[in-house]
Amino acid sequence: MSKLHFNSATIWRPSDWPLAVRVMLTAFLAIIGTGYLIALANLYEKHQLADGKEGLSVDDVKAVYAGLTINVNEETVLPSRMLTQVRTSMRQYIETDAQFETLEAWLKDGGSEEGLDEKHENGKTPRRVLIKQCMRCHAVSTGTDISREAPFGPDEFSPEYEQMKPYLASDTKVEKGRQTLKPQYDMPRLILISHIHMLSIPMFTLVVAMLFAGARGPTTIRNAILPLPMLALLLDFGGWWLARWSEIGVYSVLAGGAIFGSAFGVQILWVTLDLWSPTRAP
Ligand code: HEC
Repeated sequence: MSKLHFNSATIWRPSDWPLAVRVMLTAFLAIIGTGYLIALANLYEKHQLADGKEGLSVDDVKAVYAGLTINVNEETVLPSRMLTQVRTSMRQYIETDAQFETLEAWLKDGGSEEGLDEKHENGKTPRRVLIKQCMRCHAVSTGTDISREAPFGPDEFSPEYEQMKPYLASDTKVEKGRQTLKPQYDMPRLILISHIHMLSIPMFTLVVAMLFAGARGPTTIRNAILPLPMLALLLDFGGWWLARWSEIGVYSVLAGGAIFGSAFGVQILWVTLDLWSPTRAP
């Protein structure tokens, strides 16, 4: 038997492990599987509007990692900086959907000074939401780094329209033609996201793959599926960076995500079934 193609007998056989271990592993797989589905839902929520349109598409991936080139015409309204941020990286700081809707509606409407104190259907004004959710970081008095960079007012109770104005301008007067937007993930963010993901995801991918290595079933198929999730991560992570310079990166991210999702899903189900199938293979 070639060393390239091990069979489960040479590794280990999780299905033969004691009941307690198999119960623990099943719980582990259930958590990892569910966690992955939640991560997918989160990804969809976070990025589906990246290109300004609902639903996840190639353009969303481009907008996040590569920068999107769009055809601008008179009707195109580029969202203001604040609207983009509120829908993406600042979304996490907004506690309730009602607060989010209030802020979003005001910003979509152009973010006027009068609108700041207008009561929305839910009884909230954009000013209240800003005070409650944003000023603790964006007020000058807080002394945070971001308040120096992007101050919204002198102290936590006084959002100042004049100071916020640069972030409220939505480009409506853009010329006709093609325009390239910068990637939504700037360098520091990409570095942050990369190291967090690159140090965590491969760990449980490895555990699942090693369990899969010891599962029963047709050897050829298992050998084909076994390295796929880890290789897919390489495509995905690599693509995030490559996308800044080449469109290949965008497709690498998409291919990586698709391959990971399907192969990882198969491995989790396969291992779970294997752990609990009574028939022992010869
Ligand atoms: C916990 C602190 C914190 C809170 C709360 C917070 N922000 Fe931010 N904000 C940041 C940081 C840090 C950045 C810069 C990095 C980034 O974009 O993630 C930022 C960036 C921004 C930017 C972009 C500034 C620029 O230079 O282009 C806008 C606009 C913004 N925030 C709006 C808001 C709004 C609106 C809220 C309230 C819903 C809010 N932020 C709540 C910390 C915060």
